[in-house]
Amino acid sequence: MTETGTGTAFPAPVLGIDVGGSALKGAPVDTRTGTLTAARLLVPTPRPATPAAIAATVAGMARHFAWQGPLGCGIPAVVRDGRAGTAANIDHSWIGTDVGALFGAATGCPVTVLNDADAAGLAEMRFGAGKGQRGTVILVTIGTGLGTALFHDGVLVPNTELGHLRLPGDLVAEHFASAAAKRREQLDWPAWAGRLNLYLGQLDAFFSPDLIILGGAISGDFAAFSPGLSLRAAVCPALLGNDAGIVGAALAAAPPP
Ligand code: BGC
Repeated sequence: MTETGTGTAFPAPVLGIDVGGSALKGAPVDTRTGTLTAARLLVPTPRPATPAAIAATVAGMARHFAWQGPLGCGIPAVVRDGRAGTAANIDHSWIGTDVGALFGAATGCPVTVLNDADAAGLAEMRFGAGKGQRGTVILVTIGTGLGTALFHDGVLVPNTELGHLRLPGDLVAEHFASAAAKRREQLDWPAWAGRLNLYLGQLDAFFSPDLIILGGAISGDFAAFSPGLSLRAAVCPALLGNDAGIVGAALAAAPPP
C-alpha cells in the first residue's frame, strides 16, 4: 500500500502491537525507518489474558489510532500460520487459537501475527544492534519470560523458544534468569548476572553465535550487569529498547515494497 502525498510513492505506516505480560504496547510505524509516527499507546494486559479479552484490547487500540490498514502483532507464543502453538506465560486457551483470524475479525484489519521475540529480533536486525551483522545472531528478550530470536546471515529461524532450555540442575532457564526471577527473588545485579551468564553460556556453547543482543526493559541497565558476563560471543544491549516489539510486529505486516 502506498500514499502519494508529495508526488513520490512511499509506504503507509503499519500499526505494530506488542502483547506483553503486563501491558500491550502499540503505535503506527514508518517501516522504512523503524520510527513511530504517533505517540505509543500502553494498555494494561486484561486479566485473565484470554484470547477474547486480548482481541477486545487490540480492537480498542486500533480504534484509538482510527486504524484501517495492516496491523502486525507479536504474542508470547509459538506462532505458525497465525495460530498459537504454546502458552507459557499466558492463558492456556491460546493454544490452537487462530490469532490472525480472531484479531482480524475484532479489528476489521488484515492482521499478521508472530512470536514477540521474533518481532523484536526483526526490528533489531533491520534498524538496531544487529544491523548489517552476518553470521549467527541471537536476540534474547528479558522480561516476564526469556524470548529468543535466532538469525543466520540476517534470516530468521522462527519460534526458537530457547528461554525454555533446561540448565544444569533441571532448571528452566526463564524461571531462573528472567527479569521476573530477579524481582521475585530480590537478586542484586551480580547474583542475577551470574544466572544470566550461565544461561547465555549455554546458548554460546550450543549455537556459537557471533553476537548476542539483549532486549527487554532491563537491557537499559546493561552497564550494571554486563561486568558479570563472560562469554565467547560478543554481547550488546538492544538499541530500540521497548519499541523493538512494536517496530518488528509492524515490519512483519508491511506489504512488500
Ligand atoms: C514464551 C515465548 C516468548 C517469551 C517472551 C516465553 O515464555 O514461551 O514465546 O517469546 O516468553 O515473551
